This record gives sequence, structure tokens and C-alpha cells, in this order.
Amino acid sequence: MQFNIAALLGDGVGPEVATEAIKVLETVGKKSSHSFNLHHGLIGGVAIDEYGVALTEETLEMCRSCDAVLLGAVGGPKWDDPKAKVRPEDGLLALRKELGLFANLRPVKVLPMLTDSTTLKPEVIKDVDLIVVRELTGGLYFGQPKKQWQTPEGRRAVDTMDYSEPEIERIVRVGFEIALTRRKKLVSVDKANVLESSRLWRQIATEVSAGYPDVELEHMLVDACAMRLIQRPAYFDVVVTGNMFGDIITDEASMLAGSMGMLPSASLAGIPKGGASKAFGMYEPIHGSAPRRAGQNIANPIATILSAAMMLRYSFNLTTEAEAIEKAVTAVLEEGYRTYDIIEEGKTQVGTKEMGGLIADRIIS
Ligand code: IPM
Ligand code: MG
Repeated sequence: MQFNIAALLGDGVGPEVATEAIKVLETVGKKSSHSFNLHHGLIGGVAIDEYGVALTEETLEMCRSCDAVLLGAVGGPKWDDPKAKVRPEDGLLALRKELGLFANLRPVKVLPMLTDSTTLKPEVIKDVDLIVVRELTGGLYFGQPKKQWQTPEGRRAVDTMDYSEPEIERIVRVGFEIALTRRKKLVSVDKANVLESSRLWRQIATEVSAGYPDVELEHMLVDACAMRLIQRPAYFDVVVTGNMFGDIITDEASMLAGSMGMLPSASLAGIPKGGASKAFGMYEPIHGSAPRRAGQNIANPIATILSAAMMLRYSFNLTTEAEAIEKAVTAVLEEGYRTYDIIEEGKTQVGTKEMGGLIADRIIS
């Protein structure tokens, strides 16, 4: 099969880590009967420098014409002025909204050989294997009104947490579908003791659960969830939540794995069934552009490489090939190779390119 991939490498370490993911995809292509055609475009700060906007209409169209998008990272101090008219992040938010990428999947798996590289006790993070399903195109990020204005008493600003029934229903369904392929435990996270939009969320989650009798649904308040994630993270299997809460708890959850550099993500325009799908999606590491690490060949490319594996699974329905990438990552870590962010005594430190090369070398499919 032929697959077209829009490659938006972005800013900072984005191009370095995405290049390694492309290297791995090309290796998968060579070893299988599939070919991955890359189409490059600019996003974020580099697009602002070149075109004055973080995402052009042409780049958006190019993404639409592809089967999936691979994204590096956006942002950096150069474009950080809070008064700036355009921000690199606008490109990312526009892509999510315009491409209808409502389901953000953020798996957090603690690999046994990395339990010592986190700040938490090994016995707490042992066996952590959870996935957060975050709603990505609604809620506080996009609700209207959203503005700042001047009043006689001074400046004022508003953001709106707005969710409709169809928006909640489809994302909760993603949570249930994924839970069916795992340990069948879904925690729906909200703030129903305070927020109206959360009370609607909770009702709809309960209604949708009637169609999934094999999955156990638990409602949890977001503050309690934040606590539980540190206290007993292995408790969680699948978590489904809104845009803002999902943003916050996924940064928290990422620390369980020791480094943001390990964590992939998928943003889908459809509901995956049976752990696979052919939905259009965008794939990116959870980490940002890490400007201070850029251009030094030190960033960890594993998050982006694992995002490419998610692309194979969730947009191309190539489960075996996705597993081949995941196994190659595990093999290289088992052999003791580490990037700077996960280095420990007795292990071999390697750079971005070397890590990508080692993983590509171990792909067998
Ligand atoms: C994320 C990021 C983005 C978000 C930023 C860069 C706009 O924090 O993907 O989690 O808030 O969604
Ligand atoms: Mg975030």
C-alpha cells in the first residue's frame, strides 16, 4: 500500500526528532510492501518567519490531501512575546480544529528498564500502563466568548468552557472502544461538583456506558485524579476527559515515565475500533520544541518514533508494523542505550541520530 504523510517538522528539536521517526518509517517501508511518501510543510515559528502565519492555507490543504500528519514540535523564545499577533501554537490549534482531530490519545507506559529514571519511587510506578483520551477540539480552548477587554474597573478577560452532547458522546465512545482492547476500566474525569459542562459530561458518559456492559466506568473529579495519578498510578487503565483537564493531567502523567522524551501521542478524526483504525490522524511527541536542546543532536527521538508507530496502528491499520517499531525501541533500551534525559550509571549515552539509527537497525517485520 501507498501512504501519504504530511511532515511538519516545526521548531527547536522538532526537525531533529521527526527526522529520526522518518528514518524508522522508511526502514519499515523497505522491509514491508508498503511505501510512505513524505510531503514537507512548515508549521509554527518557522512558518511565521517565512509566511507571517503559523500555518498557511496551502499547508493545511496539503495535510488534508494526505493520509496522516507527522509533527515535530512548535514554539521557541523568538516567538514568545505575549503581545505578538501570531504565535507558533496557533498553527497547532488550527490544525487540530480544521482537521477535526477531536480525540487525543496519550499513552503512558513505564518500561521496566526505566523505572529508576523517574523522580517517583520504583514501587509506585512499576506496572504503570495507562492511556489518557483527551478531547481536543472543544471545551475551554475553543469556547466563545473568548476575549480580553477594557472596563472602567480595569482589564477583563473571559474564556468559555462549552461542550455539546455530540462532542462529549464521541470522545467518551473513544474511551470505551479503547478500554475494550485493554483492561476494560474507564475513568471519566470531570469537575461535576462545580461545573455545568462537567455535569452534562458525567450524564452522557453514564448513558454511553449502557452500550459497553463489559467496561467498568468510574467517574472521578479532576482534583482527585491529579492526586491519584501520583499516589497510585497503576490504578488507571483508560482515562477520558475534556480538553483543559486533559492538557494538565497528561503533563503530570508524563512524569511517571521519567521523561517527556518517551511519550508519543495521536490525535484522531475518528473513533478507533478494536485497537486499530484507518482514521485520519496527526502524530506528535508530547514534549515541546525544547529550544535549549535544539541543534545539538541530544534530544530523545523515542517519543516521535513511538508516535510514528501509533500512526501505523491508528491511521494505516498496520498493527504488525507498529509492533515492530515498539519492539525495536524496547530492544535498544534493553541493550542499555540511552539519550541524555534517561541516562543512568552503567548505560551508554547516545545522541538523537544514533538512537534513531539503532532503532531503525532493529526493525524486523
Ligand atoms: C499540548 C500542548 C498544547 C496544548 C499547547 C502547545 C497549545 O500543551 O499539546 O498539550 O495546550 O494543547
Ligand atoms: Mg500540554
